[in-house]
Amino acid sequence: MQSLQDKASEWSGVAAADAFAIDDVNIFESLGGTPQPFVDLSTNFYTRVYEDEEEWFREIFAGSKKEDAIQNQYEFLIQRMGGPPLFSQRRGHPALIGRHRPFLVTHRAAERWLHHMQQALDATESIDVDSKTKMTNFFRHTAYFIVAGNEMTRQQGHGVACKHATSKPAE
Ligand code: HEM
Repeated sequence: MQSLQDKASEWSGVAAADAFAIDDVNIFESLGGTPQPFVDLSTNFYTRVYEDEEEWFREIFAGSKKEDAIQNQYEFLIQRMGGPPLFSQRRGHPALIGRHRPFLVTHRAAERWLHHMQQALDATESIDVDSKTKMTNFFRHTAYFIVAGNEMTRQQGHGVACKHATSKPAE
């Protein structure tokens, strides 16, 4: 049977090695070691999401306040990109598949999410080009990992260990 990782690579077109190139350097430190670039990115991203002209996509986020969604995301990204474990201190294990279980995360939803994230990355000047490339690959792979997990939990209903959410910083 094809693993979730394999599905994520096939559907996203991003090999696992490229997705986890975010661990080759400590991105948090290389961006200055402050939360600001991540706050900028998540604010840019969720401003687009909450103003999306596509109502079906906007509706997926209707149960969360924009400010909370921004904080959840930037704390996760800081932690995953080599910074302090802010997300886990406040929210517990990221458990991305489990946390997305209430939402219908389809291929179409992943593409819309990635569309907004690409635009948000393009608009965030505090992140350099090399980090943007690495983050884009990570986001594509993770988005389709969540799609694959979403399909699986809808069929079976159990948790999965993964590298997308580990809080271990790059050496
Ligand atoms: C939370 C949807 C992809 C990481 C959420 C929430 C929604 C959502 C509706 C709730 C907002 C909140 O209250 O924080 C989606 C959809 C995706 C997607 C439709 C399309 C594939 C991703 C990706 C990542 C990610 C690629 C990571 C790279 C998170 C995190 C949270 C979150 C960390 C906060 C969870 C929490 O604090 O409980 N997502 N997401 N999501 N998402 Fe996603």
